[in-house]
Amino acid sequence: MRIVLGISGGIAAYKAAELSRQLIRNGHEVQAVMTRAAEEFVRPLTFASLTGRKVITDIFSSASPDATLSSAVEHIGVAQESDLLLVAPATANTLAKFAHGLADDFLSTLYLAFRGPVVLAPAMNNNMWEHAATRANVALLRERGHVVVDPDDGFLACGTYGPGRLAENDRIVAAVERALQPKRKDFAGETILLTAGPTQEPIDPVRYLTNRSSGRMGYALAQAALDRGARVILVSGPVNLEAPRGAELVRVGTAQEMRDAVFAHLDAATVIIKCAAVADFRPAVEAAQKIKKTGGAVSLELTPTPDILAELGQKRGDRILVGFAAETENLHEYASRKLVAKNCDMVVANLVGRPGTGFESEANEVSIALRSGEFVKLAKASKRVVADGILDHILKLTEAKPRR
Ligand code: CTP
Repeated sequence: MRIVLGISGGIAAYKAAELSRQLIRNGHEVQAVMTRAAEEFVRPLTFASLTGRKVITDIFSSASPDATLSSAVEHIGVAQESDLLLVAPATANTLAKFAHGLADDFLSTLYLAFRGPVVLAPAMNNNMWEHAATRANVALLRERGHVVVDPDDGFLACGTYGPGRLAENDRIVAAVERALQPKRKDFAGETILLTAGPTQEPIDPVRYLTNRSSGRMGYALAQAALDRGARVILVSGPVNLEAPRGAELVRVGTAQEMRDAVFAHLDAATVIIKCAAVADFRPAVEAAQKIKKTGGAVSLELTPTPDILAELGQKRGDRILVGFAAETENLHEYASRKLVAKNCDMVVANLVGRPGTGFESEANEVSIALRSGEFVKLAKASKRVVADGILDHILKLTEAKPRR
């Protein structure tokens, strides 16, 4: 595998030399990238000699105008050709730049252009490591799905004792190997019928009722299921997201359209995941013309939409049925009730109405109610990581259940 080893400026930069040798011994090609500060601690020649490759240094460091231009686009090439980005040592500054998307040197620019797994091994003074700013940046990077290899406790270069010393190379190499594991194809043979996003219930030709769902959790589930080998039929309400490549996308607007699309594809499905935030009510009549204001109050009569999940509960056959419950209180109780009432195998529940998780956010924190009575809490993480956690539980159900 091709690994980019980013070295940022800290005393521990010299340890990255031995790290690069271990990675090469494991059969990897290593491309070293050094920040300007790293060059203050170790000479690029050290890494060039060990890796047998020219070391990439700062994006604007070259004296020749031609070389500057080529190095400015080089990060895209390196990003496309590499399988993993490892940064060791990662300084507080590098973590902050990654967390906030600053791109002012080769390494931080490469980070933004890179789409593969990222492993970060921080090293810094213990107060810097424990500072609220660094804690927040590390939490953000973890939520994004990156692996952070926590530093060890020890005597630090500054003379203090505490956490901040670069993790031992064995631990960093093990994290790299884990991150490089080929993706499991454990959903091969399954067809997942997935609903995502909100629905829109028209009031008149220009207005509609909807909700705050962004569709991100459903799209993350679709991507994860595709990566794991499933066929995915994605019935999606209106969202501003690109459909995952390989998904069979069925676009719908209203709850009624979503219901019809779901039942049109039910036969093909082995697993149904109802992630969509379906509107529970729609205007009883859709006005043919725009409703004009009259100066007075207007009332809107609402009528229930079809409960797709409840109907699926009746018609699911031996398919696995997964519901979602977005609640603002009593999570466990309401989720367990929905599980039974709608005849699901599991209900994924999350608290909404709090900042940082749920609707419209990057991260999510969910609990899973199961038929066994268990209520399993998944750690707060990026929607992609949560999606894989949900699929892990679905997989257990598919393995436990006799199927067609
Ligand atoms: N759902 C559905 N059709 C509807 C409403 C909801 O299929 N008309 C599905 C959602 O896709 C989700 C689950 O039902 O999987 C739970 O949705 P939620 O709105 O949380 O629950 P409700 O059934 O509306 O119950 P309550 O009003 O008690 O919260």
